Amino acid sequence: MNTKADNIKQTFSQYVVPSYGRFDLVVKYGQGPYLWDTEGKRYLDLGAGIAVCALGHAHPQIVEALRQQAQRMIHISNLYYHEGQGLLAKEIVSRIGPGKCFFSNSGAEANEGLYKLARRFGHDSGRYEIITALNSFHGRTLAGIAATGQEKVKKGFDPLVEGFNNYIPFNDLAAAEAAISPRTAAILIEGVQGEGGIQPATPEYLLGLRKLCNERNLLLMMDEVQCGYYRTGSFCSFQEILKDVAGASDFLPDAVSMAKGIAGGFPLGGFWVREPYSDILGPGSHATTYGGGPLACAVALKVLEIIKSESLAENVKKMSRLFKEGLTALCGRYPRVLKGVRGMGLMLGISLNTESGALSGNGSPASIVFTNALKEEGVLSVPAGVSIVRLLPPLNITKEQVEEGLCLIEKAAARSSG
Ligand SMILES: Cc1ncc(COP(=O)(O)O)c(C=O)c1O
Repeated sequence: MNTKADNIKQTFSQYVVPSYGRFDLVVKYGQGPYLWDTEGKRYLDLGAGIAVCALGHAHPQIVEALRQQAQRMIHISNLYYHEGQGLLAKEIVSRIGPGKCFFSNSGAEANEGLYKLARRFGHDSGRYEIITALNSFHGRTLAGIAATGQEKVKKGFDPLVEGFNNYIPFNDLAAAEAAISPRTAAILIEGVQGEGGIQPATPEYLLGLRKLCNERNLLLMMDEVQCGYYRTGSFCSFQEILKDVAGASDFLPDAVSMAKGIAGGFPLGGFWVREPYSDILGPGSHATTYGGGPLACAVALKVLEIIKSESLAENVKKMSRLFKEGLTALCGRYPRVLKGVRGMGLMLGISLNTESGALSGNGSPASIVFTNALKEEGVLSVPAGVSIVRLLPPLNITKEQVEEGLCLIEKAAARSSG
């Protein structure tokens, strides 16, 4: 007899475009850092919807903010003003620096805004190219896949959008300098490469890029879609990377994109652009019907309020230390499976041993094999590339939940070790 899960999967296979490789898990509901499947099995969700559910699932204050705002108004379009969008922009500006914000619906769309900003910026001098990094990820729109420094996302979608064919090795300043041409308008990087396997930018790289962009009159743009919004323990990852670094206190990129955790799971994205570039995109130059609507903004304001009142930036750092210590110990105990841990805050990557054979499974990469092993033990994670499994838990995860997670990861590692 077909289970409820079988029926749901069957409906997907019949009616949903099969563009995703999904794990074999049909989710019914969530609470805090936990999800339950249709069979009643509980999972500790250390993927948090790929770094989105900053406060876990069904947070009562988020539910209440949604309910209250939905009763007043859900949508009005950007033909009119409403209080929430201005307040949210003000909150973001106060956390990054003098400038202005534009709101979209997703990360890819936030980055589209950055590409248009760069094109407008370079337009009068005939410059339109944007340099991006190898192994970067900037979203799945046509310009997003052109910007992304990974071949696999572009396959079969050529001709690619022009102006992005310059991918530089990450953290290599000399390569950035060498890549600049008379057509270059901007450089775009992630503060911590996420899909590329959790690779933080070095302080020297960020400071060097800033100097280079100043000297060559280029915009320095940062994609903080995954690594931003307190995931590293600071609002933006570059603030965390440059904290306590001499000569870095006045570092600012020219533009920053964000999404994912911004409204804790309600779709919202956006970008911040610094003065004096904040009016480059004037009336009629850029728009979206839904972006920054009353409902999304009310939730996003509540997310920021909770992050502040519950000192979650501090929690991120404390829980990060616990995870790192625990995972490092596990790497020592299960070297056939686990090789190391890297990352910042609650954006962690477990690198897997792909040579021992312990994670070689029917043609699937080790990252998928181990993600499945974790799922069997009741913990959800997110693979990156072939050899990294990401942990991107809610920012309000507790010590007990981290310990529970480490226990489950140990079980999966022990079982995979053979
Ligand atoms: C760094 C980065 N930029 C952009 C995106 C695209 O965001 P979205 O999926 O919301 O379009 C992602 C998504 O994973 C991302 O990690």
